[in-house]
Amino acid sequence: MTAVAGRDPGAASGPDGAGRGSGGFDAVTGVGALRLANPVLTASGCAAAGRELGALYDVAALGAVVTKSILRAPRSGRPTPRMAETPSGMLNSIGLQGPGIEAFLAKDLPWLRDAGATVIVSVAGNDATEFAELAGRLAAEPGVGAIEVNISCPNVANRGLVFACDPVSSAEVVRGVAGAVAGRVPVLAKLSPDVTDVVAVARAALDAGADGLAMINTTLGMVIDTDTLRPALAGITGGLSGPAIRPIAVRCVWQVHAAMRAGALRPAPIVGIGGVRTGRDAAELVLAGACAVQVGTATFHDPQAPWRVGRELADLLAARGFDRFTDAVGHAHEALARHLEQEAPR
Ligand SMILES: Cc1cc2nc3c(=O)[nH]c(=O)nc-3n(C[C@H](O)[C@H](O)[C@H](O)COP(=O)(O)O)c2cc1C
Repeated sequence: MTAVAGRDPGAASGPDGAGRGSGGFDAVTGVGALRLANPVLTASGCAAAGRELGALYDVAALGAVVTKSILRAPRSGRPTPRMAETPSGMLNSIGLQGPGIEAFLAKDLPWLRDAGATVIVSVAGNDATEFAELAGRLAAEPGVGAIEVNISCPNVANRGLVFACDPVSSAEVVRGVAGAVAGRVPVLAKLSPDVTDVVAVARAALDAGADGLAMINTTLGMVIDTDTLRPALAGITGGLSGPAIRPIAVRCVWQVHAAMRAGALRPAPIVGIGGVRTGRDAAELVLAGACAVQVGTATFHDPQAPWRVGRELADLLAARGFDRFTDAVGHAHEALARHLEQEAPR
């Protein structure tokens, strides 16, 4: 650790006072056994399978491409309208639209492999069996680096209750996936912020065999169109994403990482997601405890965002005196502890 505690966080200089770019900065990180050349990834559902981004830049330069959640069968998603703008964010009720696993294996995965991308495949299902079946098939495919388990979808067997909102259902899905994957690739459980105790769901997922956590998925919201006087989305409610949810994401990452530091939770990699538009935004999640960051909504209006954020994050951390990305992970916990110690009455 080379960052200097108490240094003006706005000072663009290294620990020795010298200005530094990202040139010598070591950006390598990892989630479980998966090594990532840089810590910034795409977020599921916001860059399909990376092909559109591949037309603009080299997707192999990203930390990883995280695919749209893959289902067993093709699905057309929910009725339109299914997008609404909100201040500092957007609301979507796309549902899990996609071509299904056969099309993914036939078209998208070979493209990602040829592009040299690090690939994390997101899976979703109607029940725990579907998740496990998909994950088992995908883990056997060359080029799949990790599985992200999107448990923020309705459990058909349990009155449509979202798996991620219940520790028992979350554990059931993750246990099935971890069993089917059998250690071949890391398994990340993607958590929802729409819970009273995110640490409890994180514990359930880790105890069930997840190698790491991805947090957060969108948070449930609603917009009413004051011209039509009806809900703006055909699905009535939708998932809120974008800068509006970043403080929630930072809070979730902070709470889970704090529980790990306190020994209340098994230490495991956390991938931070929510409202990241810039390297500064990403740095908040990293300092809170994320060892990698995903960029979602920002990609829609700036397809370069995942690549740009990686560069900005490296510059920012190097300027704060970090030689290695991994030294910055969770640093805000140490900085706070030191600050409180200095403030304590003697
Ligand atoms: C249009 C859209 C589609 C999404 N589809 C998925 C998905 O298929 N699977 C998933 O796990 N998350 C999905 N998400 C959630 C994102 O991956 C991410 O967790 C969330 O949007 C927060 O990040 P952001 O604020 O950077 O967008 C989707 C988000 C959006 C906006």
